[in-house]
Amino acid sequence: MQIQWFPGHMAKARREITEKLKMIDVVIELVDARIPLSSRNPMIDQIVEHKPRLVLLNKSDMADPAATKMWENYFADKGLLTLTVNSKTGQGLEKISTNTKELMKDKIAKMIGKGIKPRAIRALILGIPNVGKSTLINRLAKKKIAKTGDKPGITQQQQWIKVGKELELLDTPGILWPKFEDQTTGYRLAVTGAIKDEILDFGDIALFAVRYLREVYPERLLERYKLEDVTAPPIEVFDEIGRKRGCLLRGGEVDYDKAAEIVLRDIRSEKLGALTFERPSDYLD
Ligand code: G4P
Repeated sequence: MQIQWFPGHMAKARREITEKLKMIDVVIELVDARIPLSSRNPMIDQIVEHKPRLVLLNKSDMADPAATKMWENYFADKGLLTLTVNSKTGQGLEKISTNTKELMKDKIAKMIGKGIKPRAIRALILGIPNVGKSTLINRLAKKKIAKTGDKPGITQQQQWIKVGKELELLDTPGILWPKFEDQTTGYRLAVTGAIKDEILDFGDIALFAVRYLREVYPERLLERYKLEDVTAPPIEVFDEIGRKRGCLLRGGEVDYDKAAEIVLRDIRSEKLGALTFERPSDYLD
């Protein structure tokens, strides 16, 4: 299966990002800490090429801290510098400036060697829709920057936002579209709300979530839905959740649409706690 969302947009988005890259020194790539690889476009390495890059594991408040540690190690092994952040509260963001400086240290040293006074480092925020780009820009700018909307193609005046003395951000982020070749990636994006629920079957998304939670976080399911056990097949667990929640049709059958809505809403509003939906071990060959 090959699903490419917004197919026409990707080429255009890529062209726009390539234009923006010419103006900047460092890329700040945002990923969703709950699905760090599923929430990045697989073409990111090709697009960014040799620009120094800082990866932000955003929405870390919603992710399982133990899994986030694994992801930090994963990216470190790949030679990528990461920061675990919460753009909503600003937690972790204070380190961005020193980290970008670290990425630029050779270039800065060279400039100083030539007697040139280094100017502020210029950065571009990059990521898929809904990953938190605007929230991050607003936090760093300490004011509300108008949201441009995820519409590539709108040309506008670019402006630089000062973040302290040593960092400047382009005020419009680079938008990449999620893309996936396997269904699991699609479901992970859907569960976290990164793609619209209409793209995949709602009931299937919820069943995927129940299957995953049953394996990785069984105690959370037991507790939230007051289940006796979760050893039954996923569809039966889903059925039981529906019954416990009173999602019944007239004949006493479980109303799966309603049950799916409850499960997904609970996950997205953290009623089951902080959850991570993929681990580095899922990507071992
Ligand atoms: P985008 O520009 O990349 O499209 O994303 P945007 O900043 O609009 O953020 C998408 C949603 O994610 C927003 O929620 C935002 O508040 C939330 N968000 C961003 N960063 C974080 C984070 O680190 N932690 C948490 N918990 N949430 C984050 P929303 O429901 O669309 O809006 P709102 O209810 O916050 O107004």
